[in-house]
Amino acid sequence: MNTQMTNTTGTGETLIEMIKVSKAYPPDIVALENISVSIATGEMFFLIGMSGAGKTTLLKLLCSMETPSKGLIEIGGNPIQQMKGHKLAKLRQKIGVAYQDFKLLTDRTTSENIAISMEVSYKKPQLIRKRVRELLEQLDLSDKHDSITGELSRGEQQRVTLARAIANSPTIILVDEPTGNLDATTTEKVMKLLTKSNKAGATIVIATHDDSIYRDTSHRVMELRKGQMYSIAGGASL
Ligand SMILES: Nc1ncnc2c1ncn2[C@@H]1O[C@H](COP(=O)(O)OP(=O)(O)OP(=O)(O)O)[C@@H](O)[C@H]1O
Ligand SMILES: [Mg+2]
Repeated sequence: MNTQMTNTTGTGETLIEMIKVSKAYPPDIVALENISVSIATGEMFFLIGMSGAGKTTLLKLLCSMETPSKGLIEIGGNPIQQMKGHKLAKLRQKIGVAYQDFKLLTDRTTSENIAISMEVSYKKPQLIRKRVRELLEQLDLSDKHDSITGELSRGEQQRVTLARAIANSPTIILVDEPTGNLDATTTEKVMKLLTKSNKAGATIVIATHDDSIYRDTSHRVMELRKGQMYSIAGGASL
């Protein structure tokens, strides 16, 4: 097993650090076991693995939706388990998450869902409108601007979820199965947008089953197998 890896992309400065992290769910499910990994500022990192391998759990730990049973997680040198109140809220604003189960406000429109993170950080309405339109255009969803998200197809909801995650240009973008419901052309559009965010400086972690999006990548690919992490491509050991 190779759990301690360095990055090949990004600036070289560690942004996300997991040190001997385990996550158990009661009664006896070990979702993650002794994971140590460093992700650099500006890196695009692919996390692959079979269903149940622990991908979503790892992303949930990084955005502090779940807490580790053992080990330490640092973001920008700060241990997130010890963060509370305003500091934690501020950190969360810097992390955009596209959830596997979307978590959209299904009684609100597409544009309202995408605008949320920008409204929370008091962006100007004019800027918000421009950004929403831009994202919808890039994701081939311009005609869904005023649609209620609960009435959209799964593939459309998935893209709205992604747009919401990246709208406010977060420092870290966590994406869980971004292309699970998409055809090849739309998958390409999603990856183009993520690459654009990455080039603009975002550090991105993508959990995926879809080998079409990481097959030819020069970025680091690591695989979770039964809660343990293995190097597949990229990184210093290959
Ligand atoms: N809240 C929970 N309570 C109990 N067990 C959980 C919980 N969340 C996840 N698990 C278990 O932890 C393991 C890892 O789940 P996880 O959702 O992280 O897998 P995954 O790699 O994202 O799978 P998939 O590809 O199907 O999305 C699984 O065995 C799952 O059943
Ligand atoms: Mg998952």
